[in-house]
Amino acid sequence: MKPKIDNQYPIIEPIANRWSPRAFADKAVTKEDIMPLFEAARWAASCFNEQPWRFKVGIKGEEMYDKIFNTLGEFNQNWVKTAPVVVLVCAKKAFDHNGKPNAHSWYDSGQAVANLATQATANGLYLHQMAGFDRDKAEKEVVKDDHYDAICVFALGHLGNPDQLPDQLKEKEEAKQQRLGLDQIVSFS
Ligand SMILES: Cc1cc2nc3c(=O)[nH]c(=O)nc-3n(C[C@H](O)[C@H](O)[C@H](O)COP(=O)(O)O)c2cc1C
Repeated sequence: MKPKIDNQYPIIEPIANRWSPRAFADKAVTKEDIMPLFEAARWAASCFNEQPWRFKVGIKGEEMYDKIFNTLGEFNQNWVKTAPVVVLVCAKKAFDHNGKPNAHSWYDSGQAVANLATQATANGLYLHQMAGFDRDKAEKEVVKDDHYDAICVFALGHLGNPDQLPDQLKEKEEAKQQRLGLDQIVSFS
């Protein structure tokens, strides 16, 4: 079991209980399970309400899963392979209202994924986000539209058994989450 976090102030449970597993159960997740998570993402705030986030969803057994999986680095592929869902997060590069570059599209898309992760935890699901993928390959073979950046991949599913992982990753799976102190990230002067 993942140890409880050391929070200095009380926070809502889906935030306190969220963490990024690598051991996913080899258990299917249905479209009905995942659509509420994208609903949560949909209601994130964004600059000019542009909603630049787009999600390419791969469900195990379907072609899109393999396409997204094949963009991952070897380290990530080794543990992602049991996850029933992989998602490529994309961000629209320009604003609709004036066609100018949207410098906030990645920020906004990250907020949408944070909403999604919180809702997933509340619904008994977990995700693990990854920068360890080939962006060029993802843009060429999955996104196939110059108007969007490929910004992140996440694996999604039910918690698995840490014993299914190699020793080093098993240790990380069971370790307490570490964070900077509030005094290191918040200042009033
Ligand atoms: C943008 C982003 C990229 C990440 N890339 C990877 C990755 O390629 N491989 C990996 O195993 N974990 C990756 N992680 C997971 C982080 O290491 C993890 O979120 C962090 O250690 C905090 O742990 P927690 O999410 O369990 O609290 C990434 C997380 C984020 C948000």
